[in-house]
Amino acid sequence: MKFTLNNNKITKVETDCIVIGIFEDSQLEGSAAVIDQASGGALQRLIESGDIDASWRHTTMLHGLDGVAAPRILVMGYGEPEKYDPVRFVAVCAAAGEFLRDYAADTAHICMHETECGDRDANWRLRQVAMVMDWANYKYTATKAPKAWDHDPLSALSFTGDEEMQAALTEAKGVAKGYLRSRELGNLPPNICTPAYLAKTARKFEKDYENVSVEILKRKDMAKLKMSALLAVGQGSANGPRLIVLTYKGRDDDSQPVVLVGKGITFDTGGISLKPGPNMEQMKFDMGGAASVLGAFEACADLQLPINLITVVAAAENMPDGKAYRPGDVITSMSGQTIEVLNTDAEGRLVLCDALTYSQRFNPAALIDVATLTGAAVVALGHHASAIMSKHDDLANELLDAGQDVIDRGWRLPLWDDYQPQLKSTFADMKNVGGMAAGSITAGCFLSRFAKDQRWAHIDCAGSTWVWGSDKGSTGRPAGLLTQYLINQCTAS
Ligand code: BES
Ligand code: MN
Ligand code: ZN
Repeated sequence: MKFTLNNNKITKVETDCIVIGIFEDSQLEGSAAVIDQASGGALQRLIESGDIDASWRHTTMLHGLDGVAAPRILVMGYGEPEKYDPVRFVAVCAAAGEFLRDYAADTAHICMHETECGDRDANWRLRQVAMVMDWANYKYTATKAPKAWDHDPLSALSFTGDEEMQAALTEAKGVAKGYLRSRELGNLPPNICTPAYLAKTARKFEKDYENVSVEILKRKDMAKLKMSALLAVGQGSANGPRLIVLTYKGRDDDSQPVVLVGKGITFDTGGISLKPGPNMEQMKFDMGGAASVLGAFEACADLQLPINLITVVAAAENMPDGKAYRPGDVITSMSGQTIEVLNTDAEGRLVLCDALTYSQRFNPAALIDVATLTGAAVVALGHHASAIMSKHDDLANELLDAGQDVIDRGWRLPLWDDYQPQLKSTFADMKNVGGMAAGSITAGCFLSRFAKDQRWAHIDCAGSTWVWGSDKGSTGRPAGLLTQYLINQCTAS
């Protein structure tokens, strides 16, 4: 979507729709006050008559106000002033975006960032409103015929602000691009978004962006590297596995790269330990980790961030088949450690363990894997937070801070060695499941054995990467958290 800044008087701005917000205490400020005055107190009157509802995220569309050039004004409810904070601000912006996505307006002018929310400054508010409205404006169309009665999403947004704020808007555009990529990949059906499709997307990045190169490993290459865990998960599928390695060089020096690793199970049937039928279609989102690291990679390349970044995607399809791996199998991972498979549905950690071993060749400044790894992460945190695990407090905090900054939040779980004994196996160095207790943490503990001596963190995004049980689909998360982390790394060093 196109973003521009426009500092003309609000009553003169040419757009299909101006978006303002008001609090429940009816105190009008900024552009809302100017519009009220120009229209002879129309806003105040409509508030008093009860036609405008200022409760949080409520929308009221006004038409043809006197003294205002724009034909429509969308009034967003900010709710109670005492409660208004960055999280509520973002939710109001998303509500406005989703409303306008399905509305007749094609362009809009946004004023919501004029209003203070907690301690975030004007640049942050502008960046956030632009990013979030772009996010909310998303409509999945790839495999649907357009309906005559559907409204197109917005095509352009303008924002109150001067040239000095351009950097914030550019950043918003980059992050939004990452989210969009992540969402679209997540939503595509599993017969289209296969491991080969993810590889094709990575190849496209190489073509579209400066300083990007890609390497794609197939079964033969993996066999040479002894990636038996990744191969085992993929061996029951006609859609062969891929290891996708994207390199972005944003710095001339040889500074250590950040390495992002994504779980790219393009469909997870559970394998021979077959999942129950109901809701199985949702397992197309089991490449949400891959989607978000690819999204963050694209955002980084789009913004040309001064950082070295490598993104590794372990892509495979987990299918039951005559060739499929089975419970009881003992696999020798690329690291040399052996794994007893007790459940073929705990496949994510198997593809990731080889990808983590492989990634160590890059001597990462930080190694971060992202995965829809466990249903237990959803039990623990629901859909609002990604689970973050790391033995490195500084790295965990950097990720938590980045999530807090873009409101794509994470929450930390412990990775204490106390949990490690749950992975003991009679027949191998470890088994691939840790039992009922602390399922997300034992999955993290499993991965930790493949990231020894690394500055490593694990993000379980099983709850955050898609909206469950509705037709809303992928959220693109945690692409925002990851991109913000990369941006922060550029200013930190
Ligand atoms: N992809 C699933 C995790 C998952 C389940 C994500 C539901 C989102 C919603 C993963 O591969 C899996 O099946 N994990 C198992 C692990 C278990 C067998 C130890 C799980 O969570 O049940
Ligand atoms: Mn599974
Ligand atoms: Zn899975």
